[in-house]
Amino acid sequence: MNPLPPFLLEAVCYDDRAGNSDMTFSSAKLDTLRIPAIQAPMFLISGPDMVVSACEAGIVGSFPTQNARTPAILDQWMKKIRTRLDSDPNAAPWAVNIIMHPSYDRAKADFDVILKHKPPIVITALGSPAALVEQVHRYGGIVLADVINPEYAKKAAAAKVDGLVLVSAGAGGHTGYLSPFVFVHEIRRWWHGLLVLGGGIGTGQAILATQAMGADMAYLGTHFIASEESQCQTEYKQMVVQADSGDIVTSDAITGVKANWLRQSLSNGGYDPDDMPSPGKIDFTSAAGTQNKRWKDIWAAGQGVASAKSVQPVRDIVNTLVDEYHKAISAVVANPHLSTKAHKKEETL
Ligand SMILES: Cc1cc2nc3c(=O)[nH]c(=O)nc-3n(C[C@H](O)[C@H](O)[C@H](O)COP(=O)(O)O)c2cc1C
Repeated sequence: MNPLPPFLLEAVCYDDRAGNSDMTFSSAKLDTLRIPAIQAPMFLISGPDMVVSACEAGIVGSFPTQNARTPAILDQWMKKIRTRLDSDPNAAPWAVNIIMHPSYDRAKADFDVILKHKPPIVITALGSPAALVEQVHRYGGIVLADVINPEYAKKAAAAKVDGLVLVSAGAGGHTGYLSPFVFVHEIRRWWHGLLVLGGGIGTGQAILATQAMGADMAYLGTHFIASEESQCQTEYKQMVVQADSGDIVTSDAITGVKANWLRQSLSNGGYDPDDMPSPGKIDFTSAAGTQNKRWKDIWAAGQGVASAKSVQPVRDIVNTLVDEYHKAISAVVANPHLSTKAHKKEETL
């Protein structure tokens, strides 16, 4: 495994900058990653196979709890993931994503399964993480909160999460709306814990850029839709492979929350992508509910969709990202305008 740059190691290792001095983050093992990246959780897309492949390839793998149709199936999935990853000392840590919105009626049952299997990382979305932070810390896990603006970031920080996932404009599924430059800058002024950036990231160069901007890690969803391990239909994967940013439409008509969708799938579902109706009702009742039916027919993807050029195994996708990341570092070092020499010269002027 390639070691992470020292500044990233410093960022992800335990310290008390976030004020949480009574915890140990050892089980998160983020210093074992090949590149600072998380395969983001995706409804109907990421399951145990994608998580295990991502972790074996050297990045964090994750899935949303509601992809398992019942808490009993969730229990089986987590057992499977643990069994497969526990035997690999080089595997990256895995993560599970749980919806915190009051309309998600399985939150308590899913959280009981989380407490049983103790995933190293828990990622909360669409609501306050406050109810679960303490219990995850008690078993040695860390909590990352997915947020779309500084107001939610402040609330998550007050709940003593370990990391913030900034979902910026262009993200697949429920999207943010802020420019990543603005978002990272504003949050880094006061947040000293782990900072993860998502939205349109699909290359090793972009992963390096997240670090240059002041984030610690990148959050990639859309790029992994077109993977062999992805649980969606072949037609969905093909639509992703053929799409570029012009094929992405932002609308709150489908779920009541602003999300990015593939234009062609909206048309196939009977919508006019250029004249979407008013917002739908927010409802995350359960994987078997209306939300599931909507997402099955209408397919989500982010503006970075053009980074997926063919359907590949997750391992190959990660290997390409690792290669691009290291080439990008070499390109920066070799660029006389960006090199340490130029930087030193500037300092002495
Ligand atoms: C098809 C799809 C489904 C998603 N489902 C979820 C989900 O269940 N929970 C969640 O927190 N985020 C979900 N997301 C958002 C991702 O976790 C992540 O924020 C996003 O993919 C990052 O932007 P990118 O797609 O441009 O890489 C989904 C994204 C996509 C594309």
